[in-house]
Amino acid sequence: MGLGHFVPSRVVTNAELATILTTSDEWIQQRTGIKERRWVDGDVGASELAEPAARQAIKNAGLEVSDIDLIVFATLSPDVFFPGSSCLLQDRLGLNGCAALDIRTQCTGFLYALSIADAHIRSGLAEHVLVVGAEVHSSGLDMSDRGRDVTVIFGDGAGAAVVGPSDGTSRILGHKLHADGKHAEILKIEAPASRRNPRITHEMISQGLHYPHMQGRAVFKLAVSLVPKVIIELLEEHDLKIDEVDLLVPHQANQRINEMVARRLEIDPERVYNNIERFGNTTAASIPIALHEAVLRQKVKPGGLVCLAALGAGMTWGATLIRW
Ligand code: UT7
Repeated sequence: MGLGHFVPSRVVTNAELATILTTSDEWIQQRTGIKERRWVDGDVGASELAEPAARQAIKNAGLEVSDIDLIVFATLSPDVFFPGSSCLLQDRLGLNGCAALDIRTQCTGFLYALSIADAHIRSGLAEHVLVVGAEVHSSGLDMSDRGRDVTVIFGDGAGAAVVGPSDGTSRILGHKLHADGKHAEILKIEAPASRRNPRITHEMISQGLHYPHMQGRAVFKLAVSLVPKVIIELLEEHDLKIDEVDLLVPHQANQRINEMVARRLEIDPERVYNNIERFGNTTAASIPIALHEAVLRQKVKPGGLVCLAALGAGMTWGATLIRW
């Protein structure tokens, strides 16, 4: 019914990162397509970034904040370990009392969150659901060379959507969601962790276990095979073909991944929306930010078929089809 997004005003260029780490604008652009990303200044949590995105989405839906009866908040960088960022956002919005839950499926978070919103609406459990993807990565990145592969790719940002009952052709057609925990180790933050006692020690901090660690090539390989596969799987379930997709909005993890996915699907690159060069990888926020930009740029017309797709830590991956 409505979309919104918000990114911090501070632009961090590749050149600025090269003053902190041993890296270069050339390496980052060639390997990832990223030119710059946004990072917050000071103490800003995911729910703070989410608030303006959420208010915009509610306004664009033609609703009042009080019309929302469920918040589904996808993030891997919650404001605090607990309670969930959904409750913190709910309080910021003054929506005290409505249902609120967090989703922890990382880059696929927004798609899982949308599926929960859709199921609540279809079953009559909720009428207007606020779906949010928001991340503050910059306060948790390894600024030494040890973490340079990950640090250069992550950006901060928030995106939001309001989902409600369909009043015509415009509707979510379906979702296909997957997870495979055998790949849990290839992309993770280890500490603080309940499986460690104590959850965090000075030694863990000196080992950098509180920073994200990624086996980049392994994630890359899974992404270029599983993302096209799940898109085809979902399209077939709905008797649709890739040629009928007007816009593919993939998770923004790496421009090269998205180019390979487009080649494998044989979809015209003009019909794939990418903005990674300006925002980097904002994890759960990347799809709603890109989708909202695409709508603002009139890349999606009423009646058009939109496909969202993502893969991330877990591993989790999936796709969603929307008739606009
Ligand atoms: O959103 C969640 C899902 N995440 C993804 O989908 C990310 C998937 N993976 C990737 O996007 C890529 O693997 C990366 C962009 C993270 C890394 O690119 P790569 O082409 O796989 O590089 P690599 O890790 O194999 O490293 C190649 C070289 C290494 O040096 P040597 O061993 O060849 O001498 C790294 O040490 O590049 C070096 N390197 C860097 N050099 C300059 C790693 N990071 C950097 C850096 N700047 N930031």
